Amino acid sequence: LRFFIFGVGFFCDYFFKKDEVFMYIDFENLFLDQGLDRTSFEKQGTRIESYLEKIEARDQDFYRIFEDDSFLAELEEIKSFSQRSAHRYRDIVVCGIGGSALGIIAIDAALRGKNSKPRLSVLENIDPDFLADQFESLDFSRTLFIVISKSGTTPETLAQYFFVREQIERKALNPQDHLVFVTGPSGFLAEVAKKEDFTTFSVPEKIGGRFSVLTSVGLLPAALLGIDIDALVQGGRTMSIQFLNKKFDQNLPFQLATAWFLSQRSQVVLMPYASALRQFSSWFVQLLAESSGKDGRGLTPIPALGATDQHSQVQLFVDGPGNKLVFFVRVKNWRTNPPISVQTSDGRLDFLRGASFASLLAAEQSGTTQALTEAGVPNITLEIDRIDPPTLGALFLLFEGATAFLGEFLEINAFDQPGVERGKVLTRESLSQKKKI
Ligand code: PA5
Repeated sequence: LRFFIFGVGFFCDYFFKKDEVFMYIDFENLFLDQGLDRTSFEKQGTRIESYLEKIEARDQDFYRIFEDDSFLAELEEIKSFSQRSAHRYRDIVVCGIGGSALGIIAIDAALRGKNSKPRLSVLENIDPDFLADQFESLDFSRTLFIVISKSGTTPETLAQYFFVREQIERKALNPQDHLVFVTGPSGFLAEVAKKEDFTTFSVPEKIGGRFSVLTSVGLLPAALLGIDIDALVQGGRTMSIQFLNKKFDQNLPFQLATAWFLSQRSQVVLMPYASALRQFSSWFVQLLAESSGKDGRGLTPIPALGATDQHSQVQLFVDGPGNKLVFFVRVKNWRTNPPISVQTSDGRLDFLRGASFASLLAAEQSGTTQALTEAGVPNITLEIDRIDPPTLGALFLLFEGATAFLGEFLEINAFDQPGVERGKVLTRESLSQKKKI
């Protein structure tokens, strides 16, 4: 049997009940190095229990939240707020950065078409020209700004907030009609929200930014965009059950972390063969980089896109330094799948006859997999049935869970980020000394 199948939920070819998720990971091409075989891979399962205890001791809620009453109550508030607001806004603009921005960018890109309404803009930077571009076509009277910051003190987000607020007031609009906050219990934003009675949703205290996509941080904007957030949450919940499972063959996040660790590669390429998942890779980059890069250890995440990057980065993956593990994501069913109509009798293109775009893409992924394998580059393939809210929710939790387990393999704390603090202090010092441009 070539494929090892680890299913989540129930798989049926023709019929899926809402919220069911099917995915499996093929680890076969991980075992290319001498010394790494399936037996030693599976043996790592003896660590699950102690690693779960260690993670538990770190007091993080990203995998526990789905059963939390206050979270479930907030979910209802989000849904009722977004129903009330449904036809009011033409544009949703998120002010936020890092973990407060990347999740909703990934959700929007995965689940909504290019021309979906309402439009979404995420101000994930403070580049003045970028900001000017984002505001150019906005009708403020039909725009809702969601200011997202767990700490409520992030300078980039506060600068965006001040900028937006000034313009709202200049246009004589009521700030309370155009601004909502998603923030932690303390910090500048929480104080403003309380004092001026802004609609506010919470970021749970025990969930860090990059693990917060399935809280109000990602769910509020998602609901306003018309996405089925119950289904997203259900996918996350399904995977959180796997995360807590002490059996190796029923814990996909642990299997993934084991593969990352045992492969002994310093770089992990995430290469979905689906444009809709391109932004998911950016979300993953932050998650893995900020979580694992500690004490001289860590894995460098590299985003790639199939088939596009076959004409860009794949040369390096196949033939460059042997420091990479390539992780493919393959989609089984697509929303559309037109045939490729070969309008020539040129025999050299016969191989395309009868193919569809999906079958060409799948063949390209298989070809790249084989080329990597022949070159001795370890690779794994995650197959998902389709890109939909429950699958996406499960994917978020799969990677968050794997990252948490990887932290324990590496003996680091995956949930802090001491390395970015120094830069923040120096930024503040530099601005306080009035070295302003
Ligand atoms: O993962 C993290 O904790 C960070 O990347 C934060 O998300 C980022 O710094 C933004 O922080 P905040 O939400 O407090 O504005």
